[in-house]
Amino acid sequence: MAKILVLYHSFYGHIEAMAEAVAKGAREVPGAQVDLKRVPDPVPGGKADQAAPIAKPEELVNYDAIIFGTPTRFGNMTGQMRNFLDQTGGLWAQGKLIGKVGSVFTSSATQHGGQESTILTFHPTLLHHGMVVVGLPYSEARQMGLDEIKGGSPYGASTIAGGSGERMPSEQELGMAAFQGKHVAQIATKLFG
Ligand SMILES: Cc1cc2nc3c(=O)[nH]c(=O)nc-3n(C[C@H](O)[C@H](O)[C@H](O)COP(=O)(O)O)c2cc1C
Repeated sequence: MAKILVLYHSFYGHIEAMAEAVAKGAREVPGAQVDLKRVPDPVPGGKADQAAPIAKPEELVNYDAIIFGTPTRFGNMTGQMRNFLDQTGGLWAQGKLIGKVGSVFTSSATQHGGQESTILTFHPTLLHHGMVVVGLPYSEARQMGLDEIKGGSPYGASTIAGGSGERMPSEQELGMAAFQGKHVAQIATKLFG
């Protein structure tokens, strides 16, 4: 049994939809036990009706793999996700996350608004924790296609929300998110199952 946490922040619901797809993909793997949680958000005005429970930083120790989802804020993770992670110093001091699998997915308003930078600037936090970083391999061929404007890169699944948040994740983007969840769960069950 490998324990997987999909941990996300979503202000408008795009990452929430992606996180649900990631969790669905991870649940397809026999021996994977998957929880879907979100980080606290003190900023008013966000999407209130999100079913996922709020995680506490100390809970991360209970999982073998953690798949993080964050929208971009100026090409980086959101302050809400940063704030959560900045409360994991105690876990870092004790090396509690060393050897766990970590992976990241994201969203942005515009096609080139910082998806890759958001994921790649997230990875150092995982590496400082000693986590094993996993992306979205090219066996997920939908990241190659030019048939539609879409997210997805070898760094992780992603979606383009539009300038007003008017575009929800496409079938292909949700498919890539599910693939990433399944891929991480397969690796985690090999390592910890
Ligand atoms: C302060 C702020 C900064 C943002 N910076 C960017 C940005 O640099 N590039 C971009 O494409 N979108 C940017 N966005 C748009 C968000 O990334 C977008 O609202 C988010 O991906 C939607 O995800 P959600 O529905 O899960 O919250 C920004 C939004 C806010 C509020």
